[in-house]
Amino acid sequence: MTGRPAPPATAVAVDTLFEVDQLLEPPRAFREQAKISDDSVYDEAERDFRGWWARQAEKLLDWVEPWHTVLDDTDAPFYRWFVGGKLNACYNCVDRHVAAGRGERVAFHWRGEKETREVTYADLYRDTQRLANVLKARGIGKGDVVAIHLPLVPEAAVAMLACARIGAPHNVVFAGFSPHALREQLVFSEARAVITADGVWRDGRAVPLKARINEHIADLDGLRTVVVLRHTGTPAEMCEGRDIWWDEAFATAPPDCPCEPLDAEHPLFTLYTSGSTAKPKVVVHSTGGYLTGVGWTTQNVFDLRPDRDVFWCTADVGWVTGHSYVIYGPLLSGATSVMFEGSPDHPHRGVWWETVERYRVTILYTAPTAINAFLGWGEEHPSRHDLSSLRLLGSVGEPLTPKAWGWYHTVIGGSRCPIVDTWWQTETGCIMITTLPGVMASKPGSAGRPLPGIHVDVVDEEGDPVRGEYGYLVIKRPWPAMLRNLHKQGDRYRQTYFGRFEEQTYLGRFEERTYYVGDSALVDEDGYFWIGGRVDDVINVGGRRFAASQVESAIASHPGVAECAAIGQRHETTGHAICGFVVLRQSLAGGPELERQLGDRVAERLGETARPARIVWTASLPKTRSGKIMRRLLRDIAEGRDLGDVSALRDPDVIDELEQAFSEQPA
Ligand code: WT7
Repeated sequence: MTGRPAPPATAVAVDTLFEVDQLLEPPRAFREQAKISDDSVYDEAERDFRGWWARQAEKLLDWVEPWHTVLDDTDAPFYRWFVGGKLNACYNCVDRHVAAGRGERVAFHWRGEKETREVTYADLYRDTQRLANVLKARGIGKGDVVAIHLPLVPEAAVAMLACARIGAPHNVVFAGFSPHALREQLVFSEARAVITADGVWRDGRAVPLKARINEHIADLDGLRTVVVLRHTGTPAEMCEGRDIWWDEAFATAPPDCPCEPLDAEHPLFTLYTSGSTAKPKVVVHSTGGYLTGVGWTTQNVFDLRPDRDVFWCTADVGWVTGHSYVIYGPLLSGATSVMFEGSPDHPHRGVWWETVERYRVTILYTAPTAINAFLGWGEEHPSRHDLSSLRLLGSVGEPLTPKAWGWYHTVIGGSRCPIVDTWWQTETGCIMITTLPGVMASKPGSAGRPLPGIHVDVVDEEGDPVRGEYGYLVIKRPWPAMLRNLHKQGDRYRQTYFGRFEEQTYLGRFEERTYYVGDSALVDEDGYFWIGGRVDDVINVGGRRFAASQVESAIASHPGVAECAAIGQRHETTGHAICGFVVLRQSLAGGPELERQLGDRVAERLGETARPARIVWTASLPKTRSGKIMRRLLRDIAEGRDLGDVSALRDPDVIDELEQAFSEQPA
């Protein structure tokens, strides 16, 4: 396809599509070939969720020993799944595919910033054994925590799998985090080893990694091994006896390392999550339950055919999405994935679409932050590429506004691909709410319904179910992929997730301990869930409560808007006054007329009460490194408070810009 810049009229038409509350049935062609094409699976799971999950665990995974108890809830909320069962995650992700003669299948088409590589299952089989032996030679074994601090390179997969092979829980620390944050995590997890690289590529430039962390790890006595991958060629001082180069260690490592059979409950990994609170939590995930949840969702939510599909989840391995849908889910399914290092606008804004075309990607799974950025940049970038291989699109991380949904569907999906908007959390391990694409219609803006075997509800303060209004999202029964604990903070685990509705459990109103999500949500008349955002971000104007996502969807419905965030700014008489921070599509400028139009859209949908008292035009929004809007910071700016800890920000420069925009643009 050649470049054809979309005329403005088309852009407007595309933007206003799907704005009404309409159901979109799965396209016939998709439904006819879908792995799951009728909804009996929901009833089946409902009849006996333990038995249903047990059958999935048996089908999805190879077990060394069978379990004797599917779910042990005697020490709830410290649940245990598939108790007595033994398995190995690396065996399930690598060895069994090689043993079945599929070693030559590509596991990853890796597109690095400077080079590309095809990594087969046989390559993973060879390299995970070698790296496992390198670790073992350093005395690392079952139960020892290994930190992984790598960019998105195939070696990150090798490192995670090598740890899984020997039962050393990995703790991936996103390579974009500061050395200070890395150190904190190393101390907290008592890591015995770090696997890192000399440097990372950032938009074509080599940025040192190893050299930068050296002084921060020098005094950690328990840290006896640092394996360093040569990636950018950046010089790094090595600490004799502790540090080894990946390639040199590989040259002498023995080639064979058997997989350690591990208890289903053995911790596969720990992972930091910030959640909405300031204090970070370190979530512990299991082996058997986690892989069951991740395997089922990878294969059924994405309708994955490992022999035909090319799956691309754009997340970094530093996040749970990378763990579940770049590494464990696709690999245990024997799938072929794309792994992409770098940013979506480097070397140009069409690089993702070029990548889809090059590898004939069939399933694309990304986040609203990326979709909104592309929407803002315009249709000319995707339109230059052949995206006809795509057959399914996915989204995760934040609410996808109906407008963004329509854009993704039309411009990227050619109006032929179902979209799965998947709701879940680091804590849940796998997707929990979405639409099974061959079964259920989509409603743009809604994530869909709880998956089979998952029991989610929306309740009020007292724990009573709420319908047609926003309330607290809760999970009413345990599920296999759930977190098992917070590392070294069992009390905090119990308090944070199970404390909120404890009384209801004791009163016998809930069957099991109820998990408090921390998100607001609404269930509509069709049982579809609309995620409102974090509970802390709920806006209250004169006693009327609005979820941030409601106001944002209304503002974003305007054709000129690329992305926006709505917050409640404290107000003497009404409680909150709504303030909208708006990023316009390329080359548009804000002004009073546009402000009135945006206000009208909000008022039309949500009533005059919700009309924003103020719209602030900005070039960007404050986001975490994983791409979530930090509404807390926007509230701090609006209320003139000290900004506190901004280390979670991807781009600290936006703060100055926002503060300036806020003070220069009068209310
Ligand atoms: C929070 C969890 C799960 C992987 C990535 C994020 C928000 C997530 C959606 C969605 C609306 C969503 C929620 C949730 N969220 N998916 N489809 N629609 N909101 O993991 O960093 O643990 O964040 O992300 O607020 O609680 P996480």
